[in-house]
Amino acid sequence: MTRPLVRAVEMRGESFFRLDFDHPAVEARVLDEMAAGVDVYYDRHWPFTQEFCEFLLDHPELVRGHNLLVAGAGVGMEAVVGGRLANRLWINDWAPVALELQVLQLEANGLGAVASICGSFGELELPPEVDLVLGCFVVYDGETAGAVEAMLERNLAAGVPTLLADLDLGGHFSRLLDRLSEHTHRIAFPGSASDDTSRIQVVRVG
Ligand SMILES: C[S@@+](CC[C@H](N)C(=O)[O-])C[C@H]1O[C@@H](n2cnc3c(N)ncnc32)[C@H](O)[C@@H]1O
Repeated sequence: MTRPLVRAVEMRGESFFRLDFDHPAVEARVLDEMAAGVDVYYDRHWPFTQEFCEFLLDHPELVRGHNLLVAGAGVGMEAVVGGRLANRLWINDWAPVALELQVLQLEANGLGAVASICGSFGELELPPEVDLVLGCFVVYDGETAGAVEAMLERNLAAGVPTLLADLDLGGHFSRLLDRLSEHTHRIAFPGSASDDTSRIQVVRVG
């Protein structure tokens, strides 16, 4: 019997399938991506992303019914949870293998009709139907902060809100939010205070 590429997981009483990064075929694809010179930051399931997915399941109104684009989706489960709640789904990343593996993960979860957009979210032209952008754990250094800021400015100009969930590694996320403070609305996340850099901060920009 062939070993499946995904494993069953449960979140908030709902069943999902999550890509198995220990599967030899998955490991091989990730190694191919590294060999091609792509910086790989998606090769594990972050506990933080799991926490944010549970938060989304507790607050489906944040995403439900939207035409959702997940920026820097990697192989994060936020695309799966978001895709279940949203009306339509687009995924973006600049790592082609991440998108390929995410599509497999989405298909395993019954989400087959997904458009992939490969490229930097800093230069992303939003499809006109998109009315919400989501980014989970996409600000982790100066470069990602700059690219997210460029995306936020374009989304603001287009009147499309962006939901961001991040830690505050190196203070990059809080400095970015300070620069966009007049457009930023904090969303209460259990256990997070805005001055606690080790906890998840969730905001809507726009
Ligand atoms: C820390 S991982 C998080 C992945 C996923 N969102 C999650 O929570 O598991 C960051 C992701 O952002 C992607 N990324 C970083 N900079 C990017 C950029 N400028 N444009 C598109 N994707 C980017 C990486 O390839 C990676 O998949």
